[in-house]
Amino acid sequence: MSDVLSRVIVWRGDALELLDQRGLPQRAERHLCHHASDVAEAIKNMVVRGAPAIGIAAAYAVVLAAQKIDWNTHRVDQWKEALEPDFARLNRARPTAVNLRWALQRMQTVEAGDARGLIDNLLQEADQIRLEEVEANAAMSAYGAALIAPNSTVITHCNTGTLATTGAGTALGVIRHAHREGKLHRVYAGETRPWLQGARLTAWELQQSGIDVRLMCDSAAASVMAREKVDWVIVGADRVTANGDAVNKIGTYSLAVLAKHHGAKVMVVAPQSTLDNNTPTGRDVPIEQRPGHEVTHWLQLSDSPTQGGHAPEGIAVENPAFDVTPRALIDVFVSETGVTHYHPESK
Ligand code: MRU
Repeated sequence: MSDVLSRVIVWRGDALELLDQRGLPQRAERHLCHHASDVAEAIKNMVVRGAPAIGIAAAYAVVLAAQKIDWNTHRVDQWKEALEPDFARLNRARPTAVNLRWALQRMQTVEAGDARGLIDNLLQEADQIRLEEVEANAAMSAYGAALIAPNSTVITHCNTGTLATTGAGTALGVIRHAHREGKLHRVYAGETRPWLQGARLTAWELQQSGIDVRLMCDSAAASVMAREKVDWVIVGADRVTANGDAVNKIGTYSLAVLAKHHGAKVMVVAPQSTLDNNTPTGRDVPIEQRPGHEVTHWLQLSDSPTQGGHAPEGIAVENPAFDVTPRALIDVFVSETGVTHYHPESK
């Protein structure tokens, strides 16, 4: 793992240091958060992104919030009430990835003890959430790679690597593992408009791992599949609903439809913390709509773009950050507990 990849989320005792992913791969700047609200803003503004990583960051944000409780006005057993505004703010930071809510709920199960004990226990839980993610990545990487035949060509989308998980990655973990086993012919990475997670982050992580990667415009996937045999589309997920639908970065659904037409298989790779059995189908998941300037102002992804965009001024924009891939289009779901063949009859 390169030095940069070990700095995705670093606990500093009284602050959370995040690697600002918006400047990568050209600039690897630190983004320090002293308050839970700083972390919520960092999640909202994509300083840290990827479903597991935002869950981990939110867990450490709870520790920051607890450090600031005034014990003169709160009893220790009231710590959850004291942190209610922080929990609410973190929960609202991004609506689609269920790992955020899952991590916050898990932090709420921590036993208080005394004030010092509460902080220690919360920190231990945040560390544990992170450790489990790293272990889950390793397990799912091996399970997924075992499904890949030698000389396979893979398309992946968005970023699902260390930057999104702090571990080996979900889909990217499988790809890395298959590469180590010498099974990959080539990987195509979609650029992932409008935030370019594929171009900025995935292409870079794969390059660092010495994998033969070709970056393509998202719209090139159909012609690549028509031209050469693509064996697998391998993606992560931000939420998998009770019926097996996978909610993931916008563009995943298109790839799954294309895969069906061209005979490629679709593998969704995600930890158990991404499963949401309380939501029946993908249609019931809130899909984040992001600001229009992310589409109209090429590469001006900050809160307030300064220069004119490339699209007509005043144009209405549709900018959903995620889409739903129905279970019917998914061949296998891989997590740390193993492989589920969604359509065993077509194996
Ligand atoms: O908007 P992002 O960059 O947070 O979206 C991330 C993705 O969609 C990833 O593909 C997803 O989190 C998969 S698991 C690492």
